[in-house]
Amino acid sequence: MSLELSVAEAAAVLRRGQLALIPTETVYGLAANALDAQAVASIFEAKGRPHFNPIICHVSGLDALHRYARVDALSAALADQFWPGPLSLVLEQRGAIPPIVSGGGGPVAFRAPDHPQALALLHACDFPLAAPSANLSGRRSPTTAAMACAQLSFAVAGFLEGGPCRVGLESTVLQSTPEGLLLLREGGLTREELQAAGFEVVTEVRESGAPRSPGQLLQHYAPDAPLLWLEGWTKLNAKQREDFWRLTIAKLGHAPGRIVLLSPLPPEAQWLQSMPPHRLAVLAPSGNLREAAAALFSAFEEWASEADLLVALPAPEAGLGRAINDRLRRAASARLHPDSN
Ligand code: TXA
Ligand code: MG
Repeated sequence: MSLELSVAEAAAVLRRGQLALIPTETVYGLAANALDAQAVASIFEAKGRPHFNPIICHVSGLDALHRYARVDALSAALADQFWPGPLSLVLEQRGAIPPIVSGGGGPVAFRAPDHPQALALLHACDFPLAAPSANLSGRRSPTTAAMACAQLSFAVAGFLEGGPCRVGLESTVLQSTPEGLLLLREGGLTREELQAAGFEVVTEVRESGAPRSPGQLLQHYAPDAPLLWLEGWTKLNAKQREDFWRLTIAKLGHAPGRIVLLSPLPPEAQWLQSMPPHRLAVLAPSGNLREAAAALFSAFEEWASEADLLVALPAPEAGLGRAINDRLRRAASARLHPDSN
């Protein structure tokens, strides 16, 4: 672990251009003064992050947002409704934020985190905080200070202790565009919550060119053991799942070593028990997707050390299940398709 900082100490080291690990309600962040291009450059360097991948700017709320961004009416309504909270909004900025933050110029993503220490820190700083998740590029996001320190203490002046993250998945990233409200990343704020508040989202159609949220391109969140993802599972009916499961078992029969079956919710069907010798890790014994989301990244940590192979069972494709499945899919080092042979 590195040095634990008070809010005032963290504000002071950030003002000097150093980095600090900070809690948010989603995941821990690796923070720098967003107005200091050199400090932001050291985030990219510490994480080994590709320079085209932009970083989210954290602000204390709507007032601070107006200082740095041109805020359209739809984005203002979203921030008003969901901030502080797990929602990032991509907006035109007013010019104070150096281009390195947005991966070379262009719009900047902003959010106000719903965490008392993070908000106290943002109020103690007279600048916004650029903060990606506090992991090495491609690795799992940390949901405790210890997980963040284990990956990045070499790069920071210290950390702010904020306890385990309540949400456990990164923020939802939205951009208000002429085509509608684009969902750039599934995250802690669900489509259903947006809809219930009267906001319809459209998902990005990417026929050619780079996605607008470049981080979505990357293999990410990798646990220490290989992770097998069952592609298309959520679209199958019960009979097709059973067939797919038989195929999976047949394949796993040849896999040496210890298998851990990682299941967001308690597996519904009896036939799931018919595996080769394995351990079953259920993220949310209560059956609640919130609990599964909060447990996901620490489960990677916990179970990867016990397993030679992790097999992920998808969550239902609704609510937080979509973001959980997005993270599992991108953490996977191998995929199995229902029609593989
Ligand atoms: O919950 C979160 O969002 C956490 C905490 C620390 O706030 N942060 C986080 O940052 O997850 P990071 O860098 O790990 O992921 C940011 C995602 C990436 O997929 C990136 O491509 C996208 O947001 N993003 C950031 N700025 C963007 C921009 N200007 N335009 C489009 N996408 C952007
Ligand atoms: Mg990240």
